[in-house]
Amino acid sequence: MTDCEGDGSAGLTPLELYEKLTVQGDTVRALKSQKADKADIETAVKLLLALKVDYKKLTGQDYKAGCPPTNVEIPSDNGPASEEGDDLVNPWAVSTSSAKGVDYDKLIVRFGSSKIDQELVDRIERVSGQRAHRFLRRGIFFSHRDMHQVLDAYENKKSFYLYTGRGPSSEAMHVGHLIPFIFTKWLQDVFDIPLVIQLTDDEKYLWKDLTLEDCHRFAVENAKDIIACGFDVNKTFIFSDLDYMGSSPSFYRNVVKIQKHVTFNQVKGIFGFTDSDCIGKISFPAIQAAPSFSNSFPQIFNDRKDVMCLIPCAIDQDPYFRMTRDVAPRIGYPKPALLHSTFFPALQGAQTKMSASDANSSIFLTDTPKQIKTKVNKYAFSGGKDTIEEHRKYGGNTEVDVSFMYLTFFLDDDEQLEKIRQDYTSGALLTGELKKLLIETLQPMISAHQERRKQVTEDMVKQFMVPRKLDFNY
Ligand code: TYM
Repeated sequence: MTDCEGDGSAGLTPLELYEKLTVQGDTVRALKSQKADKADIETAVKLLLALKVDYKKLTGQDYKAGCPPTNVEIPSDNGPASEEGDDLVNPWAVSTSSAKGVDYDKLIVRFGSSKIDQELVDRIERVSGQRAHRFLRRGIFFSHRDMHQVLDAYENKKSFYLYTGRGPSSEAMHVGHLIPFIFTKWLQDVFDIPLVIQLTDDEKYLWKDLTLEDCHRFAVENAKDIIACGFDVNKTFIFSDLDYMGSSPSFYRNVVKIQKHVTFNQVKGIFGFTDSDCIGKISFPAIQAAPSFSNSFPQIFNDRKDVMCLIPCAIDQDPYFRMTRDVAPRIGYPKPALLHSTFFPALQGAQTKMSASDANSSIFLTDTPKQIKTKVNKYAFSGGKDTIEEHRKYGGNTEVDVSFMYLTFFLDDDEQLEKIRQDYTSGALLTGELKKLLIETLQPMISAHQERRKQVTEDMVKQFMVPRKLDFNY
């Protein structure tokens, strides 16, 4: 069964649909050769036929295994074919023409994930016995795959583990990078489960003009920021790919298994790779997929391959995990579940996400209180009116105001946030006053982070990064 089932092929590009068909063809062949249940074979064949009909409609061509659609342009610059309207979302770029940001409801349809609705938020509260984190209450984590299955298993006393990561492209992380880590820390606390954190120093070496030594050093520096988020050393394993891949036969075996089951056409369709991309890039997705399978960490899971994995990340990383979920059943592993967040916007507006490659778009975890104040005052896009008189008369627009958006991520008090929203909308609160509230929220938050980071010694980093048994029984 593929992710396609139930969703049909709505919203897929020709290449994505071709890829689905290839996967489904493999599934049918595997079921037949395993002499599987007749009903299962019939269901798989039916889906294959339905996809073929959709493919013909979409491309005007008959599907033929090994022959991708010919009239489709493959993007030349690592931009997977996943644009709709003006929204572009992939692991390397996020952009939209709307000042309100990406249309996340449309993205759910296009990516074939599910909305985190109130029922799921209530269920997470019930199962964990804790009030939902503000990221859940406010729809910042807005989309998921199979979260209900994770909760079903948890309620039946079957535990799961968390997996998230960071691509260490520079020494300094920005505030947007904190979002998945803050949420992962909350999940680890409320469910009391192990966590693995992958630092893809290999990825950054392949994609950026950096030396291996730099990437590895950034991984260790970034690990300090991650540790400063408060993870429990007894339940958390942080690893650099450059270190762990070479020392773990189990991890590498999974990488190779994944590589054998994903074709070049599939990664072209998913990630937009071209013939001139180096082969390191083309095979890298298997390395980001491998931690989704528990037997990549035999020291933690006692060689078990069936422990469910839950991945919190922003939705830009989803292409990696769509691929992972397609490949999982074919190599005998459970599909990982996902929780997706929206993007923390750039200072200049929600048309792009905060990104380390544009220093003026970002507030870094190393910024001083003065730098934070200057950046917010100078760059944070305002939804206010041009003059005080107009603002008082017509009010401001919180839907496009970056300072207000940032407060929705970091101001925990729901009532205070709602009062700010009302006051700004009515014109009672001016842009300068709103910015001041944001500065007063960010400055102590980042100073506290810097204090915690100072306490992280090289020895502590080593403790987190040594492959070892974690404090959990499997
Ligand atoms: P990287 O380093 O680009 O990003 C690290 C994590 O931060 C999220 N993120 C953001 N979240 C909200 N707003 C933003 N502006 C923003 N920018 C980045 C990313 O979605 C990610 O969760 N290839 C990955 C590293 C990785 C990984 C993983 C990430 C390896 N395995 C498993 C998540 C889950 C990368 O380069 O992330």
